[in-house]
Amino acid sequence: MGRNSIRSIQKLKDDGIPIVMMTAYDATSARLTEAAHIPIILVGDTLGMVVQGHASTIPVTLDQMIYHASIVSRVTHTALIVGDLPFMTYSIHAEQAMATATRMMQEGGVGAVKLEGGEAMAPTIRRIVAAGIPVMAHIGLTPQSVATFGGFRMQGKEEHSARQLITDALAVQDAGAFAVVLELLPSELTRIITSKLHIPTIGIGAGVHADGQVQVFHDVLGLFEEFIPKHTKRYAQIGNLIVQALSQYGAEVRDRQFPTDLHGVNMNADLVEKLLADDGNETD
Ligand code: KIV
Repeated sequence: MGRNSIRSIQKLKDDGIPIVMMTAYDATSARLTEAAHIPIILVGDTLGMVVQGHASTIPVTLDQMIYHASIVSRVTHTALIVGDLPFMTYSIHAEQAMATATRMMQEGGVGAVKLEGGEAMAPTIRRIVAAGIPVMAHIGLTPQSVATFGGFRMQGKEEHSARQLITDALAVQDAGAFAVVLELLPSELTRIITSKLHIPTIGIGAGVHADGQVQVFHDVLGLFEEFIPKHTKRYAQIGNLIVQALSQYGAEVRDRQFPTDLHGVNMNADLVEKLLADDGNETD
């Protein structure tokens, strides 16, 4: 089986099969995600928060994104890999966006890029898609603009902003985006947008009506305690297990229970005798 493509993702929508997307940032998270048969892996700039420990995605650079994307692309075989374009690396002008998307695909090895923005970003999406690079759009709460939103807030609750989000969704589809992430929208607005589009919508904190869902690896596994979004469901508490395991390791080293002889390699007994008898001068 080859990799999922934008065509196979579209087919999922056409067949009414919910689309699953998960973030991953390194070899381990990517291999585990693929082992769970998740068809799309997003190398998201959320790595700024869950890997780098920043308070937002703003500090993440293109070189860092390419570094992580290239690892995830190299170790996976079936997932469609989508590489996020980080803050201010595509919104200054279309040529900048083209250069950024090119690097992400060529050096990051991804099958598609994701960028934030709706109607205003449509001409840029059109240029990138025309150049042969599939684009996933991202509207609603776009985290790179968190400062202008004044926090991680639900979008599209009023008529004006709801209408603008519908316009945004139609504009990115018309520009050639193969899918669109809807972040932090009321469930009904997601239903309306999804019904108007022929491309898949992938929700996060956007209710039950999207064609698919995306979540952050560290959130669903209980690996990130700084901030637990309301829309996250924790499927495991791996962080607690890790702390338990590491505490046991520390205790066993301190109690001289680890390592045991089973964890080491023995030397030839004659050689040991010889070395013990040695006066420190090397002999033949
Ligand atoms: O960067 C990211 O992980 C994202 C998802 C949360 C959609 O953009």
